[in-house]
Amino acid sequence: MKSKQKWLIVGNWKMNPVSLKLAKQNYISIKKASTKIKNTEVVVCPPSIYMESFKGTTRLMLGSQDLFWEGEGSFTGNISYIQLKNFGVKYSIVGHSEKRREGETLENINKKVKSAVKGNIFPIICVGEEERDDHGAYLKVIKEQIESAVVGLSKNTIKDIVIAYEPLWAIGKDSKRDATPHEIFETVIYIKKVLSDIYGTKSVPPTKILYGGSVNEKNAEFVLKSGGVDGLLVGRVSLDVKKFTDLLLSVDKLKR
Ligand code: PGA
Repeated sequence: MKSKQKWLIVGNWKMNPVSLKLAKQNYISIKKASTKIKNTEVVVCPPSIYMESFKGTTRLMLGSQDLFWEGEGSFTGNISYIQLKNFGVKYSIVGHSEKRREGETLENINKKVKSAVKGNIFPIICVGEEERDDHGAYLKVIKEQIESAVVGLSKNTIKDIVIAYEPLWAIGKDSKRDATPHEIFETVIYIKKVLSDIYGTKSVPPTKILYGGSVNEKNAEFVLKSGGVDGLLVGRVSLDVKKFTDLLLSVDKLKR
C-alpha cells in the first residue's frame, strides 16, 4: 500500500461516455492535470471496453468497475482479476450499490474481494445504507456488508482493502440530499470500529476509507476535512474534466 499520507481520489465513469473518442478526450485531459498532482493518488475506472486505450501511469492509475473471481475459463461476459492485473489495473470497485441492485450477492462480493487481494489489486468495497433511520438500523446494514465482504481475509490484508462509504440516498442525480460531514464522520468511525473488531486490532486499522455520493469540486475539500476520510469516490463529476480537475487540485493542496 502506498503512503497513508496521500489522498485517494477515484473517478468512477460507470457506463459513460458513449464513444471511445469522448473517453479518450477525458482521459487525456485528466492525465495532463494529474502531472500537477503531488499529494494525491488519482484512479480512473473507465468502462472496461475502453481500457485498452488507457495505460495507467504512476500519477494516474487504472481501476476497474468490477472483476470476476476466477482467473480464466468459461465465464461468459466476465473479466478476471488476472486479466485486469495483467493489464495494469491497481484498484477494483467491488459491490457498488448499482451492482447490488442488479442482484450482486454478499457471497459473490466476498469472492471478488478475496480474488482481488490475491491478485494484488486493491478492492474498493462499497458499503452504504438505503435509508438513514433514527434507531441505528443503518449501522447494522453497514456492519453486515463489511463483515460479509472480508470473510476469510487474514489480518495482514487489512491494509490491502479500501472501504467506500456511499449512502444510497446521497448518490446520483436523484439523490435526496447530501450527507453532512457529521454523518460521514460518525459512519467512518463506526467502519473503523467494525474493522478493528473483525481483525482484533488495538490501534486504528490502516484501511483507507473513502466517501462517495454527490461529491463535487465545491464540497470535496469540506468532506475531506470534516468527514475524516482518506479520499473520495466520485461518479458524475469524474466525467466533467473541468470540474474533476478542479476537484483534484483543491484536494491536492489540502494537508493531511
Ligand atoms: P455520484 O456517484 O458522485 O454521481 O453521486 C457516486 C457513486 O455512485 O459512486
